[in-house]
Amino acid sequence: MLRIRRYRVFVAFTIIFVLTVFHFARSRDWSPAAESAPLVDLAESNGPPASAPDHDSTSSQHGFVPESPPQIAKPEAKKPEPEAVGGAGAAGATDSKLDTPPKTPPKDTSHISKPDKIDSTVQYGNSIPGILGPDFGPQGQGRLEVTLPDAPGRPEPHWRKFPEHFPVPSEKLIKLPTGQPNKIPKLQAQFAEESAVEQVARNQKLATIKEAFEHAWKGYKSNAMGHDELRPVEGGYRDPFLGWGATLVDSLDSLWIMGMEDEFVAAMEEIKKIDFTTSSRKDIPVFETVIRYLGGLLGAYDISGQKYRVLLDKAIELAEILIGAFDTPNRMPVMYYNWAPDYVSQPHRANTRVVLAEIGSLSMEFTRLAQLTKEDRYYDAIARITNELEKMQDNTRLPGMWPIQVDASGCKKAHRKSAQLPPLGKPEEAQGANVPSPPMPMRAPTDVESYMNYISPSHQKRDAESFVHEDTEPAVYDAVPTQTPVARAPVINEAGKSYCEEQGLASPPYSSSDRFGLGGQSDSTYEYLPKEYMLLGGLVDQYRKMYQRSMEVVRDYILFRPMIKDDRDLRFAATVTSTRPPAGKDDFDSLSYQYEGTHLTCFAGGMFAVGAKIFDIPSDMSLAAKFTDGCVWSYEATATGIMPEGFEVLSCENAASCPWNETRYNEVLDPHPEYRVKQAELVYEKKVKSAKQAQKDLEKPAKAPSHDQENQVAKRGVKFHGSEETTTPSKTVEDSAEPHASGVAMPDKPSVLSHEDFVKARIQDERLPAGFTKISSRKYILRPEAIESVFIMYRLTGDNYWREKGWKMYEAVSAYTRTELAHSAIHDVTSGAPLFLDSMESFWLAETLKYFYLLFSDPSVVSLDEYVL
Ligand SMILES: *[C@@H]1O[C@H](CO)[C@@H](O)[C@H](O)[C@H]1NC(C)=O
Repeated sequence: MLRIRRYRVFVAFTIIFVLTVFHFARSRDWSPAAESAPLVDLAESNGPPASAPDHDSTSSQHGFVPESPPQIAKPEAKKPEPEAVGGAGAAGATDSKLDTPPKTPPKDTSHISKPDKIDSTVQYGNSIPGILGPDFGPQGQGRLEVTLPDAPGRPEPHWRKFPEHFPVPSEKLIKLPTGQPNKIPKLQAQFAEESAVEQVARNQKLATIKEAFEHAWKGYKSNAMGHDELRPVEGGYRDPFLGWGATLVDSLDSLWIMGMEDEFVAAMEEIKKIDFTTSSRKDIPVFETVIRYLGGLLGAYDISGQKYRVLLDKAIELAEILIGAFDTPNRMPVMYYNWAPDYVSQPHRANTRVVLAEIGSLSMEFTRLAQLTKEDRYYDAIARITNELEKMQDNTRLPGMWPIQVDASGCKKAHRKSAQLPPLGKPEEAQGANVPSPPMPMRAPTDVESYMNYISPSHQKRDAESFVHEDTEPAVYDAVPTQTPVARAPVINEAGKSYCEEQGLASPPYSSSDRFGLGGQSDSTYEYLPKEYMLLGGLVDQYRKMYQRSMEVVRDYILFRPMIKDDRDLRFAATVTSTRPPAGKDDFDSLSYQYEGTHLTCFAGGMFAVGAKIFDIPSDMSLAAKFTDGCVWSYEATATGIMPEGFEVLSCENAASCPWNETRYNEVLDPHPEYRVKQAELVYEKKVKSAKQAQKDLEKPAKAPSHDQENQVAKRGVKFHGSEETTTPSKTVEDSAEPHASGVAMPDKPSVLSHEDFVKARIQDERLPAGFTKISSRKYILRPEAIESVFIMYRLTGDNYWREKGWKMYEAVSAYTRTELAHSAIHDVTSGAPLFLDSMESFWLAETLKYFYLLFSDPSVVSLDEYVL
């Protein structure tokens, strides 16, 4: 959140803006704790199963409607995948236990069984199955909890500063813009005076929300102060973000905004204790650390009137460590930065697979720090990323947007042969060094020696390719990209040798397609464009251009209207996989669509609204309303009144008119009834065949039963009598259509569910709200994105609709997540009695509750014309 105090612009001429930063960054944490956190099981026998049923894919079979005229032809649908084996049991493939609600009401945590101890090995919280796709590889262990054993005398390594390997000469530093800031249009609506009655009602709501915040803060303070997260059910804490106190730092601005100044001041003492130079975790997830810690500190510093110097000092201390991640030949950051001196002292290269949102969402925090400290280095660091993104923007497989993963290494690897450079040892090794391998679970150290090994770079195989030779030269930043491949800046691979053909940001090596969207992994790259524009006083037009260009493509290719039962006109954002750039506006041949709704994407409503105002795109304001309303609708659709983390819907064929089409919906839920019938018949035939075979086996021993056979058969309970040679069973089954009384039972004829019944059964078993075709992730992890957009819509339009909807959302979230200690993520929003996941991410206090609070505070509190959220 950035404060723009325009008055000061006139008072202190040299300062173009004084801006307050505080968590503008929604936590792009697509690695929710809940993914790996143990499920808190209520009574073992009564509790629903932990995981939701996962049916086959039903996505991408239908039309797509671009937002902006003229209408574009529908893209070719992705081939539907065959339905799972059908038959009577198919609909029941879903665990029927899902229907059994636990006996305990959700709030009663009294007899929650103790969850297993958190596994201290790597937590792959990264991919939300079904939403992010399987191709999302080893990147981004944003959350990682490492618990070291108690070992007195264990050496405690600390980060140290080393000279940079690839410094930017001071005359080449990209400097903060100076000059008279451009006029940025007013964001907030004109609000009418409220009546006394209205004010009382509003203040009641405000007090309710504040009480919830106080409740959760108290739980954190008494159980987990100074640690990253509270365990809101069991008590105790977790440290998945280096153990520096993520919740503490992230929540400071909320404390201030809610008038809890005493708590804020007391928290300063805890802030002083943070030691950013060490952790039990070996790598710093740069993005998470920037948004939670650096953003939290700077935001708190600004909102408290820049009176608490410790906040800025700590921010600088942290930034000095983080800036080391940018010390690469092309100055693109290493996103998982090993802080140990052994590693820092070596040269590195950025990775070949970097999540777009991570590399694209560092700008605000570093910019704000540069403004506060007048250190251009911080601004230079992120301005180079912006420049690279700008260069790449029209050279992707969906020009105008950036792929969800990018190669930031600066080295082209696919054309190694054509560059006629020396081979790299055995081909397999060379190959192995370039193709990202699936993440290997790393064991947490259990003793002093293994801890030192763990921290030391020589044991970090997966980082091997990011090491570069000492003799690597810094990239020539100002040079026009050269056509001739140049080999320089060698990369050491596992074979010990490599080289570099320079390039800018690119698709990851050997990829044949790229994914594009606004969801997790790309979201805040787009979101930061208008915000960075505001932060820089409108002086860097680059951000406006990049935003406007990308939004053209978002409107044309990403946004769609979902088909729902009522005639509410909503918008969702699809994820598109592209194999090549479309040849023209009507060419959708290279694109395949996943029509999804995810909680993370809900930020986009607020983004469209802000973009509409500051860049004067009036039509985007109605788009913003439709998009935000899509999230509101997703909350309203479920049993709890809370939106699930991720699901799929159908896209309307025509955005202008989209009546509910039951036939179409049912077809998606049961796309191949004939196939189901056929499968059931095949299964039946097979069973009959094996039953017959079994019967035959029964007869054989009658002719010449060996001892073994006899024993075998005897085990089946069939008796033989007489001599070995001549005895036959008393009755041959072959002759009888009836199963033999003492023989093998013949299978029943299959009864296959009709299309209608199958669909009904699926809807019931999977608890699909009307319009949902699949729920890929059922949980709610206290995320802020939806309420954030509702809040922005309210402040920008003044329309009371958003307050009404926001209050309903608050009531639902509060009812189902509150624990004795604080609030917890829940496992299934479609269940009438969801279970707690015993996780409370820092964004609950830092963002979610803050937005609920600001929605009902007076619009002048944290006015969006003074602050950038
Ligand atoms: C409803 O969907 C079915 C199947 O996709 C289609 O054949 C039919 O034309 C649709 N009906 C209307 C009124 O659009």
